Amino acid sequence: MEKQVFSVILAAGEGTRMKSNRPKVLHQVCGYPIIEYVVRVASEVSDDLPVVVVGHKAEEVKQYLGDRVRYAYQPQQLGTGHAVMMAKPAFEDKEGYVVVLAGDAPLIRSCTLQQMVQHAVAGRYGAVVLSAFVDDPTGYGRIVRNENGDLERIVEHRDATGEQQKIREINSSIYCFDIQLLFSSLEKLNNSNSQGEYYLTDVIEIMKRQGIKVGVLMAQDADEVLGINTRAQLAEVDRKMRLRINRSHMEKGVTIIDPEHTYIGLDVVIGCDTVVYPGNVIEGSTVIGEDCVIYPNNRIVNSVIGNGVKIQASVILDSRIGDLTTVGPYAYLRPGSVIGSGVRIGDFVEIKNSTIGDGTKISHLTYVGDAEVGKEVNLGCGVVFVNYDGFKKHRTVVEDRAFIGCNVNLVAPVKVGREAYIAAGSTITEDVPDKALAIARERQINKQGWVERRRQKFQGMQSHE
Ligand code: UD1
Ligand code: CA
Repeated sequence: MEKQVFSVILAAGEGTRMKSNRPKVLHQVCGYPIIEYVVRVASEVSDDLPVVVVGHKAEEVKQYLGDRVRYAYQPQQLGTGHAVMMAKPAFEDKEGYVVVLAGDAPLIRSCTLQQMVQHAVAGRYGAVVLSAFVDDPTGYGRIVRNENGDLERIVEHRDATGEQQKIREINSSIYCFDIQLLFSSLEKLNNSNSQGEYYLTDVIEIMKRQGIKVGVLMAQDADEVLGINTRAQLAEVDRKMRLRINRSHMEKGVTIIDPEHTYIGLDVVIGCDTVVYPGNVIEGSTVIGEDCVIYPNNRIVNSVIGNGVKIQASVILDSRIGDLTTVGPYAYLRPGSVIGSGVRIGDFVEIKNSTIGDGTKISHLTYVGDAEVGKEVNLGCGVVFVNYDGFKKHRTVVEDRAFIGCNVNLVAPVKVGREAYIAAGSTITEDVPDKALAIARERQINKQGWVERRRQKFQGMQSHE
């Protein structure tokens, strides 16, 4: 029978070096908390829900992760070995392997974890450590090998001798252990080191002393093991994740003009031949179609964009946009905006919780809130959908091919019929029938010769002084 694989994620630490009020693992990389990436990768390789060891600000971490993981609680952060001990109850009756991951290392890939498990099975190892060769090993535990090149022990940076500090092969803090051997070895752990902590890394030496085989797997891509301890490392990992995500879009046929300055979330889907300019932030579950041009500086969140859409310098939240529509510059589509095909949403247009039919033009300076706007409607410059009376929001309906002149107020609830016209500057408070013209403004008066009369009156007053 194939052995089962489980996983433990260490996330109880405070992350002192982040200088933050927030638990370290909830800081964001490419739009998601660091731990999100680790949980996803762990879930891919485990036969059961991953166990997350929480401690510092445990409630915040649990609130974010919810019930897609199991939890172990570490009341005091006494070290990584102690943290794993806290997970013991979750493995009481389990056999097989457990992959241990650091909650602060989000670049790890599931294929690397699978390789570690295969390595452990093939070599009958009690433990396999994922190592990496790095230019600057400062702060990391070092992999100490014997004359045969076999793993001897792991020495923490602070406990390392000058000679050991020169070693550039580092411990990733990602391991694959035989479950039974791990927990029996953890019982022999002590905290006689520079930090007075129970180090998980000491399990290697303990196993070796008992004649249990231990192995090392060196990560082919050293970036995968990068841990985040500081804000500078957060920025570095963010950049690497960003480039990884962007590369995968480019491989699928998306043009990303400047991958260093394009911010696309892990779950975003983009169709081929779409071009993404720099300065875009595309987040959440956004799906963008084919042949779109996403000009610079948009923020697009949880939205579905059709094919051939052009968007520039706009904010689009929880909305849908049909094929061949253009948006912006400087448009704001707030949640619940459903825009049809071939629509034009121009500059300084705000839309909220409204549907806009195919071929409608809303070219400039307009607010549409809580409305149903039909097809091929024209909203002139400066139209305002007056949807709020101070207590309640009301809906407006504008039917197909209606023409709303510039600077019109539509005071909801109100309905404008098909092909109706509304004169510029009107404030509409009553329904407008189909094909009617509504004018709701004061009639213009021209006072002939008024300027001349005024001047004479003024000069007459001055001559009396
Ligand atoms: C650890 C390793 C080090 C390795 C490095 C890789 C040990 C002793 N050292 O050092 O060899 O090179 O990771 O990044 O294991 N945690 C707990 N409870 C604790 C302490 C830590 O849950 O009591 C968690 C932290 O939240 C974090 C992870 O374990 O997610 C690693 O802890 P951290 O303090 O960052 O260890 P490092 O000093 O980086
Ligand atoms: Ca760390």
